[in-house]
Amino acid sequence: MELLQLVKQRQSDRSYTQDKVDLETIKKCLEIAHLAPSSINSQPWRFIIVDDEQVRANLAKALQVELKGNTINKFAPTVPLFVAFCGEKDARRRSFDLGAAVNYFCLALAEQGLGSCIMGGMKEEEAVKALNIPEDYKLEIVVAVGYSTQETREKNRKNLDDLLFYNQFGNKAK
Ligand SMILES: Cc1cc2nc3c(=O)[nH]c(=O)nc-3n(C[C@H](O)[C@H](O)[C@H](O)COP(=O)(O)O)c2cc1C
Repeated sequence: MELLQLVKQRQSDRSYTQDKVDLETIKKCLEIAHLAPSSINSQPWRFIIVDDEQVRANLAKALQVELKGNTINKFAPTVPLFVAFCGEKDARRRSFDLGAAVNYFCLALAEQGLGSCIMGGMKEEEAVKALNIPEDYKLEIVVAVGYSTQETREKNRKNLDDLLFYNQFGNKAK
């Protein structure tokens, strides 16, 4: 699939069918995530595929948090599969590296016809406990995966011209 089309197709899906997600497909997408660039090629990521019913339920509970007076991630208990992205705590550019891997992963899922939602909102301690993550790793993000029931939406983005400068910050002339 053409990259632009794939990028437009990838969106935050928050409603899924209960169809099982094939583990081989997830592994294929994680192979693509693992091809992401990282600082000094440190590859500080670890991936946890979460398909066990009990672990999934525990994680879904940890993902539902209060944010500005609302509970976010209420859809978490209906997610058929999660992939948790952890990073080596002492990796220099851990968040940046993990972000690249997460985005490669989500695009790879989109190419396979799978929906996803990057989920950063969570009760971290509870999620770390649910996934048994050791102390020297940071749980960066959880990605919900499944077959989406949502239509593809138009992207809602700021105007690129307002964010783009030439040669020095603030210079719009070209
Ligand atoms: C680091 C990060 C954390 C996010 N955390 C959540 C989250 O906890 N829950 C959620 O529903 N969406 C979450 N999102 C999804 C964003 O809300 C979404 O990417 C943004 O609104 C743009 O919409 P789109 O992904 O459909 O293009 C997160 C996205 C990123 C990149």
